[in-house]
Parts: sequence; structure tokens; C-alpha cells
Amino acid sequence: MNTAFGTLIFLLCIKQLVVGCTQSGKLSVNCYGLNHYEVPQNLIKSAEVINLARNRIKVLQVYAFQRYTNLKVLKLYDNMILHVEEGTFEPLTNLEEIDISNNGLRTLPLDLFNLPSLRILYSDSNRMFDLINDLLSLEKPISAPLEYLNVADCKLDDIPDLGILPKLKHLNASSNPLSKISLDTFSSMCALESIDLTKNQIPYCECQEIADLVAMHYTKTLSDRLSFCDKDKVSKCPDNITLIDKILVSSEYQQCNYLHSHPPISKKTWIIIGVCLAGILLLVLITP
Ligand SMILES: *[C@@H]1O[C@H](CO)[C@@H](O)[C@H](O)[C@H]1NC(C)=O
Ligand SMILES: *[C@@H]1O[C@H](CO)[C@@H](O)[C@H](O)[C@H]1NC(C)=O
Repeated sequence: MNTAFGTLIFLLCIKQLVVGCTQSGKLSVNCYGLNHYEVPQNLIKSAEVINLARNRIKVLQVYAFQRYTNLKVLKLYDNMILHVEEGTFEPLTNLEEIDISNNGLRTLPLDLFNLPSLRILYSDSNRMFDLINDLLSLEKPISAPLEYLNVADCKLDDIPDLGILPKLKHLNASSNPLSKISLDTFSSMCALESIDLTKNQIPYCECQEIADLVAMHYTKTLSDRLSFCDKDKVSKCPDNITLIDKILVSSEYQQCNYLHSHPPISKKTWIIIGVCLAGILLLVLITP
């Protein structure tokens, strides 16, 4: 009995060592915590979820995801990623969610922002010293329909400028040495519902302005107003209501609002329209 039990344990260990990643469900692969140094290239090609969190990946090479174009969710948190080769994420046109938090990234790969399905981006706890500067060369508006962005604890002194984000609902930029932040930043985020700016270094009066803007316009975050400015330093600040009004009538804000209520027609919709039109045309042609 004991030997059978021992053999079972042994086989399970061997399986863990040899097989590595396990498949859970038809399209989900779990490679959590397996000491991988690279993205394994022997996983099922049709995988929609790959969990590679807590491995030892340092570099993402350009071919890393070329096989996995059906991916919708990719977890890469808790690795040691320092560098991502240009174009690495480009093939992932179905990717909706990526978690690349807790790595050593100095910037974000710009191809992420042009993924046509990307809604959720966790990139917190990196050291993004180069991000603000790199974003200057990003073509805007971006095509990723971002709804959730987490850049908490990324050593940022400003909120990253991604241009107009008509779908962005949740922004988390807490635990950053934010100090340069400008109210204009918010004119490109007209659909914001929640914002976490706690543990910032924004000067008190500027922080109050942002809090006022958030409280006035983004009604769902009313409670945030009191939470993210340093309450101990209560001092009289100039009344900046006109400044806030200026944001709400700015062309960027108007454009954001327009895009929010008139989302661009997706490729899929165009294909459906095309097929339907072709069908109708065919019907017209073959009916006597
Ligand atoms: C923002 O992100 C930090 C770090 O990931 C997290 O601890 C915090 O709870 C988040 N805030 C919200 C409101 O989710
Ligand atoms: C808004 O407040 C800042 C200080 O927080 C001040 O320097 C600026 O002049 C004010 N602007 C207006 C239009 O009152």
C-alpha cells in the first residue's frame, strides 16, 4: 500500500516536472509559478487564457505569442520582465485583458495600445521612468478600447497621456509621486466612473481642484473627493470653478463625449454589413 502511495506521489511529481503547464477547461492553460524563463511554445494553439504569472521571464521575444492569436486573457504578473521586443503583442488582436503588473518594466510596449480588443490593462508595480516620455511618440487616439487602467505604484510624476479615452471607466494611479498633474489630463477621460489617486504628491490646492472636478463631474466618485487630498493641510485655496468649466467645454472633452456616444464601427460589423449586402445583391440577381 505504502509503495503504491509512494509511486503515486512520484508520478505526480514527474508529471509536474515534465508536463509543466496544465490545461484547465478546453481553452485555458495554467503555467503559474513554474520557473519558466520563456513563454512555452508547446501549449494549445487555440488557448484563450494563458496564466504565466510568477515565472522567471526576463525578456518577451517577438515570437513569444505568435502561435497564440486566440488569446483573450494573458497573465504575466510577478515575473522579472525588463524588456519587451517591439511587435511582441501585435498578433494578439483578440486580447481583452493583460496583467503585466509587478515586473521591472521602465515603459509599456506601445503596441499594446493599438490592440483592437484590449479593455483591461494591469501594469501596476513597475518602474516606469520612461513611460511619460515614450508616450509622446504614440499615435493618438489609440485604438485599444481601454476601460480599466492600473498604473499604481509605477514611479510616475504625471498621469500618462494616452490621448482621448472615450471608454475609460476606471483609472488607478495611486502610490505614485504625482506632482505635475494637470487638470487638462481629465478632459480626455469623459466617461470616468472611479479614480484612485491616493498616496500622491500633488500640492494641496491643485489636489483640491482635481477633487472638485472629480466630485462635480464624475458623480460616482463623490466619496473619493475627501480621500485623496492631504486633509491635514487645510488652507484656503483660490476658487477655480471657472477652470473646471473650461475643461468641460474643451474640444478634447467634447470629442471624447462624441466618441463615447458614437463608437466607431468595428471591423466585425463592417464584415456583417458586407456579407448581408452581398446576399441581398445575389438574391436580386438570381430572382427573375
Ligand atoms: C489600485 O491599485 C493598487 C495596487 O494594485 C491597489 O492596492 C488598490 O486597491 C487599487 N485601488 C482600487 C480602488 O482598486
Ligand atoms: C487656480 O489655482 C491655482 C493654485 O492652485 C492658481 O495658481 C491659479 O491661478 C488658479 N486659477 C484661476 C483661474 O483662478
